[in-house]
Amino acid sequence: MGLMERPAEWQGGSKPPPTPNFAPSPSRVFEPPLLLGAMMRDGDNSIPDAQPAPMVIDVEFEEQEVQIPQSTEFGQAEIREPLDLPRAAPTPDGRARIVTVINQKGGVAKTTTVINVAAHLAIQGVKVLVVDCDSQGNCATGFGIDKSRIRYGTRTLMLAPEDAIRARHATGVENLHLIVADRQLVGIEEELISQLGRERRLAEGLEALLPHYDLILIDTPPSLGLVSINALVASDSVVIPVQTEYFALEGLALLASTIREIRHRLNPRLGVDAVLLTMHAPTLLNGQVAAQVRETFPDLVVDPPIRRNIRLAEAPSHGTPIHIHAPKSAGGQDYLNLSNALMKVWGFGVKDE
Ligand SMILES: Nc1ncnc2c1ncn2[C@@H]1O[C@H](COP(=O)(O)OP(=O)(O)OP(=O)(O)O)[C@@H](O)[C@H]1O
Ligand SMILES: [Mg+2]
Repeated sequence: MGLMERPAEWQGGSKPPPTPNFAPSPSRVFEPPLLLGAMMRDGDNSIPDAQPAPMVIDVEFEEQEVQIPQSTEFGQAEIREPLDLPRAAPTPDGRARIVTVINQKGGVAKTTTVINVAAHLAIQGVKVLVVDCDSQGNCATGFGIDKSRIRYGTRTLMLAPEDAIRARHATGVENLHLIVADRQLVGIEEELISQLGRERRLAEGLEALLPHYDLILIDTPPSLGLVSINALVASDSVVIPVQTEYFALEGLALLASTIREIRHRLNPRLGVDAVLLTMHAPTLLNGQVAAQVRETFPDLVVDPPIRRNIRLAEAPSHGTPIHIHAPKSAGGQDYLNLSNALMKVWGFGVKDE
């Protein structure tokens, strides 16, 4: 319990040495930073270092891990109309790809996916910026950052784009910066509503940061309000996590039509990169829902599903991504596989195992 201050030697900049909390374990799955493809730029010192972030760990939960086998049976699907969704185009050279993780249904593992995919890519050498657009501020917690002590965050990014550079904070993972959301984001939709260009505020805020990262990953709130619309307008593509439970498909038609509408009216680049099956368990119901999602989004579902795993649920209480907390757990392995699959989709090189 209690506050864990960031050590003094972290204060210096965007590539802090790992703290004991984040020290790579000898058993970690990745080699040291390697690659990358065409988009990786070395020695880029043209913007100031990201701000150091105050770290906090509240409670460290640990529970018995239940082993769930990865199932290959997906059950019978009801006949459904496939939802037609455009695929995203490749990223223009020389700037970050912007990807929004979105599903207006709550608790489907959006934030868990953002944190763990971002961390996996960052340790492979991809320069990643996570932008939390949810006033719950779960991304900061997941990285062990005390958001109550952060002054410049996503609100700054959207309302004062000239200050975007100061809103970045270093995390305990090398190559990974975070723009923190917190309660300051509550009410921003009402503030924006009377402003011109209200759907493009996030895109404008990110503009100055694009040359300095390879990937900008945006976490969204469980709603399709103006903040989520801003994220879609700023993005090259979306990733949609779907929990393989009953009700999962309700709302996906609305999400699909929102994506199509934004592509038509506000952002012709926008497309879908992947649909993820999350918190999957080997039950008949989970299998049936997975089969329905496959029929609804032909060719977009990434296999295998992410299994329900207690290590993933407890990792945020340690303020660490899963590759540090429990890389060998089912959750660690599933997010490793997913991250490698997404690296290919996004055009970053993946080291062969
Ligand atoms: N594969 C998994 N196995 C077990 N628990 C998981 C898994 N994925 C996520 N969780 C847990 O489920 C809860 C919801 O996940 P998460 O916060 O990532 O969802 P979300 O979509 O971001 O939610 P919200 O809509 O509120 O932002 C969290 O407590 C998280 O730790
Ligand atoms: Mg979330």
